[in-house]
Amino acid sequence: MGIVYAIANQKGGVGKTTTAVNLAACVAAQGRQVLLADLDSQCNATVALGLDRGLTPSSYECLAGEVSVAVAARPAGPDNLWIVPASRALAGASVELPRLERFEYRLRDGLGPVRERFAVTLLDCPPSLGILTINGLTAADRVIVPVQAEYLALEGLVQFLETLDLLRRELNPSLVLTGVLITMHDERTRLARDVEAELRHHLSEQVFDTVIPRSVRVAESPSFGTPVVEHAPGSRGAIAYGELARELAAREDEPAVAA
Ligand SMILES: Nc1ncnc2c1ncn2[C@@H]1O[C@H](COP(=O)(O)OP(=O)(O)OP(=O)(O)O)[C@@H](O)[C@H]1O
Ligand SMILES: [Mg+2]
Repeated sequence: MGIVYAIANQKGGVGKTTTAVNLAACVAAQGRQVLLADLDSQCNATVALGLDRGLTPSSYECLAGEVSVAVAARPAGPDNLWIVPASRALAGASVELPRLERFEYRLRDGLGPVRERFAVTLLDCPPSLGILTINGLTAADRVIVPVQAEYLALEGLVQFLETLDLLRRELNPSLVLTGVLITMHDERTRLARDVEAELRHHLSEQVFDTVIPRSVRVAESPSFGTPVVEHAPGSRGAIAYGELARELAAREDEPAVAA
């Protein structure tokens, strides 16, 4: 059985999409079948892999129950990597979906055979706790929470972890936190070092050992429509995402840590 990970944080711009795209590419490079589902109407993950914004079927049609996720998956370029693209229609989902029965479970219900076909499925969630993120967290087995190494990182994170508790009580009791990922870390600044120390102090092993450095190569790779491991394989960012893929595989074998 494959594992479904939601990559989520209600805070915007913390590196969710960058992590979804680059982690997906690194896990695929390990030879495992990977599906990346873009749940954000911004379509950033879709565009970062060089696909157009207007493709159908998209994750919108999956949420609407028109197609299964397995049917909407298409090859994303790199070997072993598949994507369910996003579309701008997702922007209307917060109005439309609640009219449907069991709307929080739409994605979970739509995953079906995906769990057999893909070793790893990554759900790139939008920056809010709206209906799309709730669908992602309800469908997922585990969650990865990217956090930018900046002032007040811990406050925002604590709030999100409380939301996960609520979600577990109401919708998905088996959801576990695989790890908090420190992103855009600039080791030259004292602030980034202090934020990392504070996160590790409060959350200990819930924080991934791997830290993603701030890197121009990571930031520019979406404009080439390709993950950083293909755009600049020797760069620090590409190496860090490769390490994250290995750490993730190691954590799959460990008993999961409940948040
Ligand atoms: N390691 C990094 N080094 C440099 N820039 C980065 C890095 N990670 C992400 N960025 C840049 O930071 C910005 C936000 O990243 P990203 O889009 O991944 O965040 P997000 O959490 O998905 O945002 P949103 O909440 O809008 O979906 C982007 O411009 C991205 O290129
Ligand atoms: Mg994003």
